[in-house]
Amino acid sequence: MAILVTGGAGYIGSHTCVELLNSGYEIIVVDNFSNSKPEALKRVSELTKKSFISYEVDLLDHIALENVFRENHIEAVIHFAGLKAVGESVEIPLRYYHNNITGTVLLCELMQKYNVKNLVFSSSATVYGTPKYVPITEDFSLQTTNPYGRTKLMIEEILGDLHLSDNNWSIALLRYFNPIGAHESGRIGEDPNGIPNNLMPYITQVAIGKREHLNIFGNDYDTHDGTGVRDYIHVIDLAKGHLKALEKVMNRTGIDTFNLGTGIGYSVLDVVKSYEKVTSQKIPYKITQRRSGDIGKCYADTTKANKELGWKAIKNLEDMCQDSWRWQKNNPDGYTEEIKELVENHN
Ligand code: NAD
Ligand code: UD1
Repeated sequence: MAILVTGGAGYIGSHTCVELLNSGYEIIVVDNFSNSKPEALKRVSELTKKSFISYEVDLLDHIALENVFRENHIEAVIHFAGLKAVGESVEIPLRYYHNNITGTVLLCELMQKYNVKNLVFSSSATVYGTPKYVPITEDFSLQTTNPYGRTKLMIEEILGDLHLSDNNWSIALLRYFNPIGAHESGRIGEDPNGIPNNLMPYITQVAIGKREHLNIFGNDYDTHDGTGVRDYIHVIDLAKGHLKALEKVMNRTGIDTFNLGTGIGYSVLDVVKSYEKVTSQKIPYKITQRRSGDIGKCYADTTKANKELGWKAIKNLEDMCQDSWRWQKNNPDGYTEEIKELVENHN
């Protein structure tokens, strides 16, 4: 019996695959590599010294996806696959709705058909919109401001309806806060396409000299230094949270939502200072206008995950900065460089 990991070649998926394999799970990965590279999976295998089956399959390709279910004994699904860029989702909303929502519906149809009813789903703290106060508990009201966020909220609702229609389903909705960091080996990490939108990949690109300076989006928020406060969580802690959620869905039926964060809020300047301290790299920055759609403060109350999953994030901001830097330093062009080297070596 195996765990199907959709989007397993992506940033969070690849780190979760490592933790799953290290804990003795058999895994099967499905990814269309629209935002990742097969090289990430090779490195998962290299790090864990374990092999696993992977399929280059799009969730929207119902026939190809059904083959995956037909050819394997799947016990549970961890569903990471989705498009995740907020700005892009405003520009091409239909692509986001089709990929994320239709993809999930098709996946669930096959899970139902093959009687696989254990599901862990990647949601996001974005479903809280502008929270009234912090820390945020799972019962806060939900509202979203962009198509990406709406796909997450709609999928949460679809999965709620699915469970209502058939209470044999066992589902965990994981609302991630801000995942950063990388595997401590420096072999896998976040490999964004083009100019990074998110803070940590932008900082690491400034540190490596690819970008001149960081633009800090506003210093007039109601926070300790005026810059935006977020709950940054190490991707390895996040990956471990998935294993705890998986244990839960395999041992009960029902549907539950969990915040996965550290419960600590750090400002943009806190992150810059911590990064400079642990890496000895200077991060020049300029204060610019607020980014449209941004909020001042966002951090989690993680009591529910602590109690009901027996999970707690343990890595601190310095670990996150150190590991992000190691990944960036060792892979200045992400996963592509190694492929180039391999090609050159073969010529
Ligand atoms: P990622 O883009 O690195 O990984 C997603 C993977 O899914 C990629 O490998 C991509 O190729 C694949 N994929 C996308 N559409 C697919 C499809 N139709 N069929 C097959 N594969 C497909 O993103 P990530 O940061 O690892 O995020 C994983 C999940 O967590 C996403 O659903 C994302 O929305 C959610 N999430 C991420 C963050 C974050 O900050 N990274 C925060 C909250 C929630
Ligand atoms: C963003 C998305 C959110 C998504 C999350 C994870 C927006 C408005 N929100 O969240 O929906 O779930 O990513 O993918 O895009 N910052 C800078 N300069 C930069 C980049 C960021 O100052 O170049 C600041 C931001 O203003 C914010 C903090 O850094 O205060 C974190 O930003 P980011 O990493 O983009 O995450 P979120 O905005 O929390």
